[in-house]
Amino acid sequence: MSRPVMGPVRVGLLGMGTVGGGTVRVLRRNAGEIARRVGREIVIAQAAVRNPARLQGLDLGCLVTSDPFAVVRNPEIDVVVEVMGGIEPARSLILEAIAAGKHVVTANKALLAEHGNVIFAAAQEQGVVVAFEAAVAGGIPIIKAIREGLAGNRIQWLAGIINGTSNYILTQMRAEAKDFPSALAEAQRLGYAEADPGLDIDGGDAAHKLTLLASIAFGIPVDFAHCHVEGIRNLDRVDVVYAEDLGYRIKLLGIAKRRADGVELRVHPTLIPERHLLASVEGPFNAVLVDGDAVGQTLYYGRGAGAEPTASAIVADLVDVARTLTADPSNRVPHLAFQPDCMSALPLLPMAAVESAYYLRIHAHNRPGVLAQVATVLAEHDISIEALVQKEAGAAADVPIVLLLHRCREGDLDAALARIQALPVVTRPVLRLRVEGLGESA
Ligand code: NDP
Ligand code: HSE
Repeated sequence: MSRPVMGPVRVGLLGMGTVGGGTVRVLRRNAGEIARRVGREIVIAQAAVRNPARLQGLDLGCLVTSDPFAVVRNPEIDVVVEVMGGIEPARSLILEAIAAGKHVVTANKALLAEHGNVIFAAAQEQGVVVAFEAAVAGGIPIIKAIREGLAGNRIQWLAGIINGTSNYILTQMRAEAKDFPSALAEAQRLGYAEADPGLDIDGGDAAHKLTLLASIAFGIPVDFAHCHVEGIRNLDRVDVVYAEDLGYRIKLLGIAKRRADGVELRVHPTLIPERHLLASVEGPFNAVLVDGDAVGQTLYYGRGAGAEPTASAIVADLVDVARTLTADPSNRVPHLAFQPDCMSALPLLPMAAVESAYYLRIHAHNRPGVLAQVATVLAEHDISIEALVQKEAGAAADVPIVLLLHRCREGDLDAALARIQALPVVTRPVLRLRVEGLGESA
């Protein structure tokens, strides 16, 4: 039976930087394969950048304007791809595209984490798709895996390395003995970091992505404001070395866990056993471990940033959108995996309610009895020590004491740490990191 011939799907591209440029290349290079998958061509009909003069002389095969609203308002455009970044004007552009009945594909995790509920509700109302595979973990099809591949499961928890820049810095500190500032400079030079690298190293970017993952995993509204966020800025190379001595690696993890009383949603540097698969995820790579009641644990690994890995996700979304252009809107895969009227507002738990094992680095005067003072405070809060590392300090006035603590409630540790910090022998802020076994004993 021959297939009816349909015209191409016409795309309006907002932004032609790293991701937009990669998208143009992948769509062109794989045009034949893509048309075979969709049943029609996908073409870029118009694009917007801040400075079109930059693209002069390039054979882009489409109109380029500096006015992104002109693209959204172009009646010839079927799908808007937003790869500009930032909150405004991206938010207004996407809402206007939706109101005009256009489908949207975006890589903008910051926008969706902070304004996703409004955007998805508007899209639902208009019967259009807002696809966002590229917003989480670059080229890894993690959204599709959770939303569709694991749809038969009750997902219990997920944990992921979802910021390539931080992972690159931690890898450089451990494997190449680089210090933090030079590892960050290298990540920026290689193009992994956000325009504001604070989003990478302070955990915000990972928190944006985790917020979206938690929503599709548990069927809860997007709630970035309640995500606990700590980055890697305060880590020192000595922590990486101590962790290694204790049999662990430090990773910036995003963890979302469903409990009887609510949901834990947290991003923080975490010690994980060095034998764990996630411990060997190095450089700019990402990986997400998902625990479902039927399947058990599944692991998704790949490039989390960069032009073509991210374009891979954008183009996959375009293929999905193109295939559904003729489908009944009420029969589409819901944006956040669960039907919009079946979302549950589980409470997001405060960090004080979290249970974990811990790593502490305490700097104290180099004199007898210091360790006993620290141990006494911990014991009075029912917190026990699993291991201790104290390197020979010689005549140094100040020594680091590294402790590994058994699992306890974070609220109890907060109370103990306030007392330890106030001890006159303690000379600097105590560094506290969490230790997770991720399904194995920590
Ligand atoms: P870039 O800075 O490389 O590109 C941004 C593009 O948007 C540029 O072409 C810029 O124009 C254009 N642009 C920005 N503001 C406007 C505006 N007001 N009007 C018209 N054009 C505008 O960003 P990336 O490609 O790195 O990132 C894009 C999005 O993808 C962000 O949301 C980012 O978080 C996300 N993302 C990025 C990944 C990556 O690896 N880079 C991975 C996953 C997601 P001009 O060229 O003239 O400056
Ligand atoms: N800056 C981000 C990262 C880009 O390092 O992971 C991909 O989202």
